[in-house]
Amino acid sequence: MGYGSIMTEVANPELEPHAVQCERLVKRYGALTAVDEVSFDVRAGEIFGLVGPNGAGKTTTIECIEGFRKPDSGSVRVMGLDPQHDRYELRERMGVQFQSAALPPRIRVEEALSLFASFYRTSVDWRPLLVQLALADKQRAPLATLSGGQKQRVFIALALVNDPDIVFFDELTSGLDPQSRRSMWELVADIRERGKTVFLTTHFMEEAERLCDRVAIMDHGRLVALDSPRALIASLEAGRRVVFQVDGAFDDAALRALPGVTAVEQTGERVTVSGEGDRFLSSVAGSLESGGVAFRDLRTEQPNLEDVFLVLTGKKMRE
Ligand SMILES: Nc1ncnc2c1ncn2[C@@H]1O[C@H](COP(=O)(O)OP(=O)(O)O)[C@@H](O)[C@H]1O
Ligand SMILES: [Mg+2]
Repeated sequence: MGYGSIMTEVANPELEPHAVQCERLVKRYGALTAVDEVSFDVRAGEIFGLVGPNGAGKTTTIECIEGFRKPDSGSVRVMGLDPQHDRYELRERMGVQFQSAALPPRIRVEEALSLFASFYRTSVDWRPLLVQLALADKQRAPLATLSGGQKQRVFIALALVNDPDIVFFDELTSGLDPQSRRSMWELVADIRERGKTVFLTTHFMEEAERLCDRVAIMDHGRLVALDSPRALIASLEAGRRVVFQVDGAFDDAALRALPGVTAVEQTGERVTVSGEGDRFLSSVAGSLESGGVAFRDLRTEQPNLEDVFLVLTGKKMRE
């Protein structure tokens, strides 16, 4: 989508302190090492995504960064602060997405916001926040009466009430329908446009690809990759795929012989051709035409972050 390129270019790592610095972070639960020597930096002003399947260690990592969990070893700095030692200072400068379980269900939206505002030395007027989040008419509604998407927007408002420099979202869009999820992405992009750093976790690869400036891919407590979604996808060896349908038996010898074609797979009527090069698509189409093959629904498929995960870990994200 390309938004945010301006922010990332303005942020100069030489001048700006990193928003988050994690060095060899380790967190164990008994015999299980949930976070295993994880190191990364988050730049000021970016949307940084920690992505990976359930159980990868994302929540444990974000909780160590927020200061809610004490690491077993390694170092964490958030805007230069130590989340354990400087927790009161940090609490003023970060926004955290709370879970609905943390609030009484009968509390009204305006009561929750006033309550949260009272926790901080500085807080913004939350009424404009409610307008921006399309919640103005829900100001007096009890939390329990709101839809899933509305509740999530209340939690965004609560996370912004102290005008934080960095905001943390753990699986912000879980449980939302695709439309609410997309509007949540816009809200998160808006938060970055206001100059804040956003640190989020997600197990939705598409969300990470659309929303994040950079992603760290986590699996079994370890980082397996860290870069912009575009660079991660570009790093894949398997360049492009052409997919089409055939009726009945199809001899793929001519396709396999084409320069640039690396693989041809057939599943039922569906044929997938993998390859690389600028003329890949036209040479596949040309070969089918000249061979007199009856094909339909010919289209190209771009690799995505799911493919990156598959290549790096040898397994599918969702199973
Ligand atoms: N409080 C806990 N006690 C014991 N094990 C835990 C606890 N919290 C998480 N785990 C385990 O640690 C691993 C990482 O969990 P988590 O950080 O929640 O991953 P994610 O957020 O990526 O799903 C999982 O195997 C999970 O079962
Ligand atoms: Mg989690």
